[in-house]
Amino acid sequence: MNVLIIGSGAREHAIAWKLKQSPRVEKLFVASGNAGTARLAQNITIANDDHARLKQFARAENIDFVVIGPEAPLADGLADKLRAQNIRVLGPNQNAAEIESSKAFAKDFMKRHNIPTARYETFTNFDDALRHVETVPYPIVIKASGLAAGKGVILPETFDAARDALRHIMLEHEFGAAGDTVVIEERLQGKEVSVLAFSDGVTVKAMPPAQDHKRLLDGDLGPNTGGMGAYAPVNVPEHFLDEITREILQPTLDGLRAEGRMFVGVLYAGLMLTRDGARVLEFNCRFGDPEAQVILPLLESDLLDVFEACVNGTLARCDVKWKRGAAACVVLASGGYPNKYATELPIHGLDAMQNRNAIIFHAGTKLQNGQAVTNGGRVLCVTGVGKNLGDALDTAYTAIRPIRFEGMQYRRDIGARPLTSPNPSLSRRGTSSQPSP
Ligand code: AMP
Ligand code: GLY
Repeated sequence: MNVLIIGSGAREHAIAWKLKQSPRVEKLFVASGNAGTARLAQNITIANDDHARLKQFARAENIDFVVIGPEAPLADGLADKLRAQNIRVLGPNQNAAEIESSKAFAKDFMKRHNIPTARYETFTNFDDALRHVETVPYPIVIKASGLAAGKGVILPETFDAARDALRHIMLEHEFGAAGDTVVIEERLQGKEVSVLAFSDGVTVKAMPPAQDHKRLLDGDLGPNTGGMGAYAPVNVPEHFLDEITREILQPTLDGLRAEGRMFVGVLYAGLMLTRDGARVLEFNCRFGDPEAQVILPLLESDLLDVFEACVNGTLARCDVKWKRGAAACVVLASGGYPNKYATELPIHGLDAMQNRNAIIFHAGTKLQNGQAVTNGGRVLCVTGVGKNLGDALDTAYTAIRPIRFEGMQYRRDIGARPLTSPNPSLSRRGTSSQPSP
Protein backbone atom coordinates (compact mmCIF):
# COMPACT_ATOMS: atom_id res chain seq x y z
CA MET A 1 0.00 0.00 0.00
CA ASN A 2 1.03 3.57 -0.63
CA VAL A 3 0.51 5.64 2.47
CA LEU A 4 0.51 9.41 2.96
CA ILE A 5 0.93 10.96 6.41
CA ILE A 6 -0.17 14.58 6.92
CA GLY A 7 1.87 16.62 9.41
CA SER A 8 5.44 17.48 10.28
CA GLY A 9 5.99 16.95 14.00
CA ALA A 10 7.48 14.22 16.17
CA ARG A 11 4.01 12.63 16.33
CA GLU A 12 4.04 12.17 12.56
CA HIS A 13 7.64 10.89 12.67
CA ALA A 14 6.52 8.30 15.24
CA ILE A 15 3.56 7.28 13.04
CA ALA A 16 5.89 6.98 10.04
CA TRP A 17 8.46 5.00 12.06
CA LYS A 18 5.84 2.49 13.18
CA LEU A 19 4.10 2.21 9.78
CA LYS A 20 7.48 1.64 8.12
CA GLN A 21 7.70 -1.63 10.10
CA SER A 22 4.63 -2.95 8.34
CA PRO A 23 5.55 -5.33 5.50
CA ARG A 24 2.48 -4.12 3.62
CA VAL A 25 3.61 -0.52 3.35
CA GLU A 26 5.19 0.01 -0.01
CA LYS A 27 5.65 3.75 -0.52
CA LEU A 28 5.48 6.12 2.42
CA PHE A 29 5.07 9.88 1.98
CA VAL A 30 4.91 12.64 4.57
CA ALA A 31 3.48 16.11 3.87
CA SER A 32 5.50 17.96 4.71
CA GLY A 33 7.61 16.05 7.24
CA ASN A 34 10.99 16.98 8.73
CA ALA A 35 14.64 15.87 8.67
CA GLY A 36 13.69 12.71 10.60
CA THR A 37 10.87 11.57 8.34
CA ALA A 38 13.15 12.23 5.34
CA ARG A 39 15.20 9.23 6.46
CA LEU A 40 12.39 6.71 6.23
CA ALA A 41 9.85 8.26 3.89
CA GLN A 42 9.61 10.73 1.06
CA ASN A 43 8.80 14.23 2.22
CA ILE A 44 6.58 16.27 -0.05
CA THR A 45 6.26 20.01 0.34
CA ILE A 46 2.52 20.58 0.28
CA ALA A 47 1.03 22.65 3.10
CA ASN A 48 -1.55 20.93 5.31
CA ASP A 49 -4.18 23.50 4.36
CA ASP A 50 -3.68 23.09 0.61
CA HIS A 51 -6.42 20.49 0.29
CA ALA A 52 -6.63 20.73 -3.49
CA ARG A 53 -2.96 19.85 -3.97
CA LEU A 54 -3.08 17.11 -1.36
CA LYS A 55 -6.03 15.50 -3.15
CA GLN A 56 -4.25 15.84 -6.47
CA PHE A 57 -1.08 14.27 -5.06
CA ALA A 58 -3.04 11.38 -3.55
CA ARG A 59 -4.62 10.64 -6.92
CA ALA A 60 -1.40 11.01 -8.92
CA GLU A 61 0.63 8.75 -6.59
CA ASN A 62 -2.09 6.11 -6.14
CA ILE A 63 -2.27 6.68 -2.41
CA ASP A 64 -4.32 3.92 -0.75
CA PHE A 65 -4.38 5.29 2.73
CA VAL A 66 -3.98 8.71 4.38
CA VAL A 67 -3.21 9.32 8.06
CA ILE A 68 -3.97 12.84 9.27
CA GLY A 69 -1.79 13.73 12.28
CA PRO A 70 -2.72 17.25 13.44
CA GLU A 71 -6.10 18.69 14.45
CA ALA A 72 -6.18 21.68 12.07
CA PRO A 73 -6.66 19.75 8.79
CA LEU A 74 -9.27 17.53 10.51
CA ALA A 75 -11.15 20.59 11.74
CA ASP A 76 -10.92 22.02 8.21
CA GLY A 77 -12.55 18.94 6.66
CA LEU A 78 -9.58 17.35 4.86
CA ALA A 79 -10.79 13.86 5.80
CA ASP A 80 -14.23 14.54 4.25
CA LYS A 81 -12.63 15.69 1.01
CA LEU A 82 -10.33 12.68 0.71
CA ARG A 83 -13.17 10.27 1.54
CA ALA A 84 -15.26 11.88 -1.19
CA GLN A 85 -12.54 10.64 -3.55
CA ASN A 86 -12.78 7.12 -2.13
CA ILE A 87 -9.43 7.40 -0.37
CA ARG A 88 -9.28 5.61 2.97
CA VAL A 89 -8.47 8.00 5.80
CA LEU A 90 -7.48 7.56 9.43
CA GLY A 91 -8.98 10.63 11.08
CA PRO A 92 -12.54 11.86 11.68
CA ASN A 93 -14.69 13.93 9.38
CA GLN A 94 -15.16 17.60 10.19
CA ASN A 95 -18.36 17.14 12.15
CA ALA A 96 -16.81 14.50 14.44
CA ALA A 97 -13.60 16.57 14.78
CA GLU A 98 -15.76 19.21 16.42
CA ILE A 99 -15.30 17.28 19.66
CA GLU A 100 -11.88 19.01 19.68
CA SER A 101 -12.34 22.09 17.51
CA SER A 102 -15.21 23.50 19.59
CA LYS A 103 -14.92 23.23 23.36
CA ALA A 104 -18.43 24.68 23.62
CA PHE A 105 -19.73 21.82 21.46
CA ALA A 106 -17.71 19.26 23.45
CA LYS A 107 -19.07 20.50 26.78
CA ASP A 108 -22.71 20.57 25.59
CA PHE A 109 -22.19 17.14 24.04
CA MET A 110 -20.89 15.74 27.32
CA LYS A 111 -23.84 17.20 29.19
CA ARG A 112 -26.29 15.66 26.68
CA HIS A 113 -24.68 12.25 27.02
CA ASN A 114 -23.90 12.22 30.76
CA ILE A 115 -20.16 12.08 30.30
CA PRO A 116 -18.45 13.24 33.49
CA THR A 117 -16.86 16.68 33.14
CA ALA A 118 -16.48 19.94 35.08
CA ARG A 119 -19.48 22.29 35.55
CA TYR A 120 -19.43 25.13 33.02
CA GLU A 121 -21.15 28.00 31.27
CA THR A 122 -20.59 29.28 27.73
CA PHE A 123 -20.39 32.97 26.73
CA THR A 124 -20.21 35.06 23.58
CA ASN A 125 -20.52 38.42 25.35
CA PHE A 126 -17.76 39.92 27.50
CA ASP A 127 -20.04 41.60 30.06
CA ASP A 128 -22.05 38.43 30.61
CA ALA A 129 -18.85 36.44 31.07
CA LEU A 130 -17.48 38.97 33.56
CA ARG A 131 -20.71 38.97 35.56
CA HIS A 132 -20.51 35.20 35.75
CA VAL A 133 -16.93 35.34 37.05
CA GLU A 134 -18.03 37.79 39.76
CA THR A 135 -20.74 35.51 41.07
CA VAL A 136 -19.63 31.95 40.42
CA PRO A 137 -19.10 30.12 43.74
CA TYR A 138 -16.13 27.97 42.65
CA PRO A 139 -12.60 28.51 41.25
CA ILE A 140 -12.61 28.67 37.46
CA VAL A 141 -10.76 27.94 34.24
CA ILE A 142 -11.27 30.12 31.15
CA LYS A 143 -11.07 28.48 27.73
CA ALA A 144 -11.24 29.87 24.23
CA SER A 145 -13.69 27.53 22.54
CA GLY A 146 -11.84 27.10 19.25
CA LEU A 147 -8.40 25.75 18.34
CA ALA A 148 -5.60 27.79 19.92
CA ALA A 149 -2.57 25.46 19.69
CA GLY A 150 -2.78 24.55 23.38
CA LYS A 151 -2.58 28.20 24.50
CA GLY A 152 -6.27 29.00 24.87
CA VAL A 153 -6.70 27.73 28.44
CA ILE A 154 -6.14 30.13 31.34
CA LEU A 155 -6.23 29.23 35.03
CA PRO A 156 -6.67 32.64 36.70
CA GLU A 157 -5.72 32.97 40.38
CA THR A 158 -7.52 36.27 40.97
CA PHE A 159 -10.56 38.15 39.70
CA ASP A 160 -8.27 40.67 37.99
CA ALA A 161 -6.42 37.91 36.15
CA ALA A 162 -9.74 36.43 35.03
CA ARG A 163 -10.94 39.81 33.75
CA ASP A 164 -7.65 40.35 31.88
CA ALA A 165 -7.90 36.91 30.30
CA LEU A 166 -11.47 37.52 29.17
CA ARG A 167 -10.48 40.90 27.79
CA HIS A 168 -7.56 39.43 25.82
CA ILE A 169 -9.63 36.59 24.42
CA MET A 170 -12.99 38.28 23.82
CA LEU A 171 -12.21 41.95 23.17
CA GLU A 172 -8.63 41.91 21.83
CA HIS A 173 -9.15 38.64 19.92
CA GLU A 174 -5.83 37.15 21.01
CA PHE A 175 -6.82 33.80 19.47
CA GLY A 176 -8.86 35.27 16.62
CA ALA A 177 -12.25 33.69 16.03
CA ALA A 178 -11.26 30.80 18.32
CA GLY A 179 -12.09 33.14 21.21
CA ASP A 180 -15.49 34.38 19.97
CA THR A 181 -17.01 31.84 22.31
CA VAL A 182 -15.56 31.23 25.75
CA VAL A 183 -16.15 28.35 28.13
CA ILE A 184 -15.82 29.12 31.84
CA GLU A 185 -15.65 25.95 33.86
CA GLU A 186 -15.02 24.71 37.35
CA ARG A 187 -11.37 24.21 38.20
CA LEU A 188 -10.80 20.60 39.20
CA GLN A 189 -8.12 19.15 41.47
CA GLY A 190 -6.27 15.91 40.83
CA LYS A 191 -3.77 14.11 38.62
CA GLU A 192 -3.99 14.27 34.84
CA VAL A 193 -3.90 11.26 32.56
CA SER A 194 -4.32 11.01 28.79
CA VAL A 195 -6.28 8.03 27.54
CA LEU A 196 -6.15 7.58 23.78
CA ALA A 197 -8.20 5.01 21.92
CA PHE A 198 -8.51 3.58 18.45
CA SER A 199 -12.02 3.90 17.09
CA ASP A 200 -13.91 2.63 14.05
CA GLY A 201 -17.01 4.62 14.95
CA VAL A 202 -18.65 1.73 16.83
CA THR A 203 -15.90 -0.08 18.74
CA VAL A 204 -13.30 1.66 20.85
CA LYS A 205 -9.99 0.17 22.06
CA ALA A 206 -8.02 2.09 24.65
CA MET A 207 -4.25 2.42 24.42
CA PRO A 208 -1.97 2.36 27.49
CA PRO A 209 -2.61 5.53 29.53
CA ALA A 210 0.02 8.25 29.17
CA GLN A 211 1.09 11.34 31.03
CA ASP A 212 2.13 14.53 29.31
CA HIS A 213 4.27 17.27 30.93
CA LYS A 214 2.79 20.51 29.62
CA ARG A 215 4.77 23.09 31.61
CA LEU A 216 8.12 24.32 30.32
CA LEU A 217 10.19 23.94 33.49
CA ASP A 218 11.06 21.27 36.04
CA GLY A 219 8.58 20.91 38.87
CA ASP A 220 5.68 21.82 36.56
CA LEU A 221 6.66 25.48 36.62
CA GLY A 222 6.74 28.08 33.85
CA PRO A 223 4.38 28.56 30.92
CA ASN A 224 2.29 25.90 29.20
CA THR A 225 3.82 24.38 26.06
CA GLY A 226 2.77 21.86 23.45
CA GLY A 227 4.28 19.21 25.76
CA MET A 228 7.84 18.76 27.06
CA GLY A 229 7.82 15.00 27.60
CA ALA A 230 5.63 12.04 28.39
CA TYR A 231 5.64 8.47 29.59
CA ALA A 232 3.42 5.42 29.31
CA PRO A 233 1.92 3.40 30.76
CA VAL A 234 0.79 5.43 33.75
CA ASN A 235 0.40 3.27 36.82
CA VAL A 236 -3.39 3.24 37.16
CA PRO A 237 -5.65 1.10 39.35
CA GLU A 238 -6.79 -2.27 38.05
CA HIS A 239 -9.83 -2.04 35.75
CA PHE A 240 -9.15 1.69 35.23
CA LEU A 241 -9.12 1.38 31.44
CA ASP A 242 -12.27 -0.77 31.47
CA GLU A 243 -14.06 1.87 33.53
CA ILE A 244 -12.86 4.75 31.35
CA THR A 245 -13.94 2.80 28.28
CA ARG A 246 -17.37 2.06 29.74
CA GLU A 247 -18.07 5.47 31.27
CA ILE A 248 -16.33 7.86 28.91
CA LEU A 249 -14.94 6.51 25.63
CA GLN A 250 -17.82 4.26 24.55
CA PRO A 251 -20.59 6.74 25.46
CA THR A 252 -18.68 9.43 23.56
CA LEU A 253 -18.41 7.31 20.45
CA ASP A 254 -22.05 6.21 20.72
CA GLY A 255 -23.24 9.76 21.29
CA LEU A 256 -21.28 11.04 18.30
CA ARG A 257 -22.68 8.28 16.10
CA ALA A 258 -26.22 8.93 17.31
CA GLU A 259 -25.75 12.56 16.27
CA GLY A 260 -24.54 11.57 12.81
CA ARG A 261 -20.89 12.20 13.64
CA MET A 262 -19.21 8.84 13.05
CA PHE A 263 -15.75 9.01 14.66
CA VAL A 264 -13.06 7.07 12.77
CA GLY A 265 -9.55 7.61 14.07
CA VAL A 266 -7.89 8.23 17.40
CA LEU A 267 -10.05 9.63 20.19
CA TYR A 268 -8.04 11.30 22.94
CA ALA A 269 -9.57 11.96 26.36
CA GLY A 270 -7.63 14.31 28.64
CA LEU A 271 -8.74 13.29 32.13
CA MET A 272 -8.48 14.71 35.63
CA LEU A 273 -8.58 12.00 38.29
CA THR A 274 -10.51 13.77 41.03
CA ARG A 275 -11.61 12.44 44.41
CA ASP A 276 -15.03 11.91 42.86
CA GLY A 277 -13.71 9.98 39.88
CA ALA A 278 -12.37 10.74 36.42
CA ARG A 279 -13.58 13.92 34.69
CA VAL A 280 -12.96 14.87 31.05
CA LEU A 281 -10.90 18.07 30.68
CA GLU A 282 -10.83 17.91 26.91
CA PHE A 283 -11.20 15.67 23.91
CA ASN A 284 -8.80 15.64 21.01
CA CYS A 285 -9.60 14.06 17.67
CA ARG A 286 -6.09 12.68 16.94
CA PHE A 287 -2.95 11.27 18.56
CA GLY A 288 -1.41 13.47 21.25
CA ASP A 289 2.03 14.91 20.78
CA PRO A 290 4.17 13.83 22.69
CA GLU A 291 1.89 10.97 23.80
CA ALA A 292 2.21 9.21 20.42
CA GLN A 293 5.99 9.11 20.84
CA VAL A 294 5.66 6.88 23.92
CA ILE A 295 2.53 4.92 23.00
CA LEU A 296 3.47 3.79 19.48
CA PRO A 297 6.82 2.24 20.55
CA LEU A 298 4.80 0.04 22.94
CA LEU A 299 2.49 -1.24 20.19
CA GLU A 300 3.24 -4.84 19.28
CA SER A 301 0.66 -5.10 16.48
CA ASP A 302 1.17 -3.83 12.95
CA LEU A 303 -0.09 -0.22 13.00
CA LEU A 304 -1.40 -0.45 9.45
CA ASP A 305 -3.56 -3.45 10.44
CA VAL A 306 -5.04 -1.44 13.31
CA PHE A 307 -5.60 1.66 11.18
CA GLU A 308 -7.26 -0.42 8.48
CA ALA A 309 -9.53 -2.07 11.05
CA CYS A 310 -10.60 1.42 12.17
CA VAL A 311 -11.38 2.51 8.63
CA ASN A 312 -13.04 -0.79 7.62
CA GLY A 313 -15.21 -0.97 10.73
CA THR A 314 -13.62 -4.21 11.92
CA LEU A 315 -11.86 -3.02 15.05
CA ALA A 316 -13.90 -5.41 17.25
CA ARG A 317 -12.16 -8.32 15.50
CA CYS A 318 -8.70 -6.75 15.52
CA ASP A 319 -6.42 -7.97 18.30
CA VAL A 320 -4.48 -4.85 19.32
CA LYS A 321 -1.41 -6.15 21.17
CA TRP A 322 0.89 -4.12 23.42
CA LYS A 323 4.43 -4.80 24.60
CA ARG A 324 5.33 -5.16 28.24
CA GLY A 325 7.50 -2.46 29.72
CA ALA A 326 7.41 1.29 29.46
CA ALA A 327 8.43 4.19 27.26
CA ALA A 328 9.39 7.74 28.14
CA CYS A 329 10.26 10.71 25.97
CA VAL A 330 12.01 14.01 26.56
CA VAL A 331 11.46 16.98 24.26
CA LEU A 332 14.50 19.08 23.31
CA ALA A 333 13.22 22.59 22.64
CA SER A 334 14.67 25.77 21.17
CA GLY A 335 15.92 28.46 23.55
CA GLY A 336 13.10 30.94 24.09
CA TYR A 337 10.30 28.45 23.35
CA PRO A 338 7.28 28.73 23.84
CA ASN A 339 7.88 32.38 22.95
CA LYS A 340 10.24 33.70 20.27
CA TYR A 341 13.16 31.46 19.29
CA ALA A 342 15.84 31.27 16.60
CA THR A 343 15.75 28.66 13.81
CA GLU A 344 18.20 27.12 11.33
CA LEU A 345 20.72 26.30 14.05
CA PRO A 346 22.79 23.19 13.30
CA ILE A 347 21.99 20.10 15.37
CA HIS A 348 24.99 18.02 16.41
CA GLY A 349 25.33 14.47 17.70
CA LEU A 350 22.25 12.94 16.09
CA ASP A 351 24.13 9.84 14.95
CA ALA A 352 26.23 9.29 18.06
CA MET A 353 23.68 7.18 19.90
CA GLN A 354 24.01 3.40 19.53
CA ASN A 355 21.17 2.07 21.68
CA ARG A 356 18.39 0.36 19.78
CA ASN A 357 16.03 1.04 22.69
CA ALA A 358 16.38 4.77 22.09
CA ILE A 359 14.62 6.52 19.24
CA ILE A 360 15.17 10.12 18.19
CA PHE A 361 11.90 11.45 16.80
CA HIS A 362 12.28 14.74 14.96
CA ALA A 363 9.83 17.62 15.45
CA GLY A 364 10.91 21.09 14.26
CA THR A 365 13.88 20.09 12.08
CA LYS A 366 14.75 20.31 8.42
CA LEU A 367 17.67 19.45 6.18
CA GLN A 368 19.90 22.24 4.91
CA ASN A 369 22.66 21.07 2.56
CA GLY A 370 22.42 17.63 4.14
CA GLN A 371 22.75 18.99 7.69
CA ALA A 372 19.83 18.80 10.16
CA VAL A 373 19.00 22.24 11.52
CA THR A 374 16.34 23.53 13.91
CA ASN A 375 13.04 24.59 12.39
CA GLY A 376 10.58 25.00 15.25
CA GLY A 377 9.99 25.39 18.98
CA ARG A 378 10.01 21.72 19.84
CA VAL A 379 13.00 20.34 17.92
CA LEU A 380 13.50 16.69 18.89
CA CYS A 381 11.73 14.15 21.03
CA VAL A 382 14.01 11.45 22.41
CA THR A 383 12.20 8.27 23.42
CA GLY A 384 13.57 5.46 25.54
CA VAL A 385 11.93 2.05 25.81
CA GLY A 386 12.66 -0.24 28.77
CA LYS A 387 11.40 -2.94 31.04
CA ASN A 388 10.04 -0.31 33.42
CA LEU A 389 9.73 3.47 33.65
CA GLY A 390 13.13 3.97 35.32
CA ASP A 391 14.81 1.99 32.58
CA ALA A 392 13.02 3.89 29.83
CA LEU A 393 13.98 7.23 31.41
CA ASP A 394 17.63 6.20 31.77
CA THR A 395 17.74 5.21 28.11
CA ALA A 396 16.12 8.46 26.96
CA TYR A 397 18.31 10.74 29.10
CA THR A 398 21.47 8.84 28.11
CA ALA A 399 20.59 9.19 24.43
CA ILE A 400 20.23 12.96 24.84
CA ARG A 401 23.83 13.43 26.07
CA PRO A 402 25.59 13.71 22.69
CA ILE A 403 22.91 15.96 21.18
CA ARG A 404 23.64 19.67 21.02
CA PHE A 405 22.22 22.78 19.42
CA GLU A 406 22.53 26.39 20.52
CA GLY A 407 20.00 27.31 23.20
CA MET A 408 18.71 23.72 23.65
CA GLN A 409 16.48 23.33 26.69
CA TYR A 410 14.69 20.35 28.20
CA ARG A 411 13.16 19.15 31.41
CA ARG A 412 15.20 16.95 33.76
CA ASP A 413 12.19 15.59 35.63
CA ILE A 414 10.09 13.77 33.04
CA GLY A 415 8.45 10.80 34.76
CA ALA A 416 9.93 11.81 38.12
CA ARG A 417 6.53 12.03 39.79
CA PRO A 418 4.56 9.09 38.52
CA LEU A 419 1.00 8.79 39.73
CA THR A 420 1.79 6.63 42.75
CA SER A 421 5.14 8.14 43.75
CA PRO A 422 5.55 8.13 47.55
CA ASN A 423 7.65 11.28 47.28
CA PRO A 424 5.89 13.73 45.00
CA SER A 425 8.59 16.39 45.15
CA LEU A 426 11.37 14.06 44.01
CA SER A 427 13.33 15.41 41.05
CA ARG A 428 15.70 12.82 39.75
CA ARG A 429 17.87 14.45 37.12
CA GLY A 430 20.89 16.50 36.24
CA THR A 431 22.37 14.37 33.52
CA SER A 432 23.65 16.90 31.06
CA SER A 433 26.16 19.69 30.92
CA GLN A 434 23.51 21.81 29.24
CA PRO A 435 22.46 24.69 31.49
CA SER A 436 19.12 24.31 33.21
CA PRO A 437 16.34 26.05 31.32
P1 AMP B 1 -7.26 21.53 27.90
O1 AMP B 1 -6.59 21.99 26.62
O2 AMP B 1 -8.69 21.86 27.97
O3 AMP B 1 -6.92 20.12 28.27
O4 AMP B 1 -6.53 22.38 29.04
C1 AMP B 1 -5.12 22.46 29.15
C2 AMP B 1 -4.70 22.22 30.56
O5 AMP B 1 -5.35 23.13 31.45
C3 AMP B 1 -5.07 20.84 31.07
O6 AMP B 1 -4.12 19.89 30.71
C4 AMP B 1 -5.12 21.08 32.57
O7 AMP B 1 -3.82 21.09 33.13
C5 AMP B 1 -5.68 22.47 32.67
N1 AMP B 1 -7.13 22.42 32.83
C6 AMP B 1 -8.06 22.43 31.85
N2 AMP B 1 -9.32 22.36 32.36
C7 AMP B 1 -9.18 22.30 33.69
C8 AMP B 1 -10.11 22.22 34.78
N3 AMP B 1 -11.42 22.19 34.59
N4 AMP B 1 -9.59 22.18 36.04
C9 AMP B 1 -8.26 22.21 36.24
N5 AMP B 1 -7.35 22.29 35.27
C10 AMP B 1 -7.78 22.34 34.01
N1 GLY C 1 -0.18 16.47 24.36
C1 GLY C 1 -1.38 17.19 24.25
C2 GLY C 1 -1.93 17.26 22.90
O1 GLY C 1 -1.43 16.66 21.97
O2 GLY C 1 -2.92 17.95 22.71
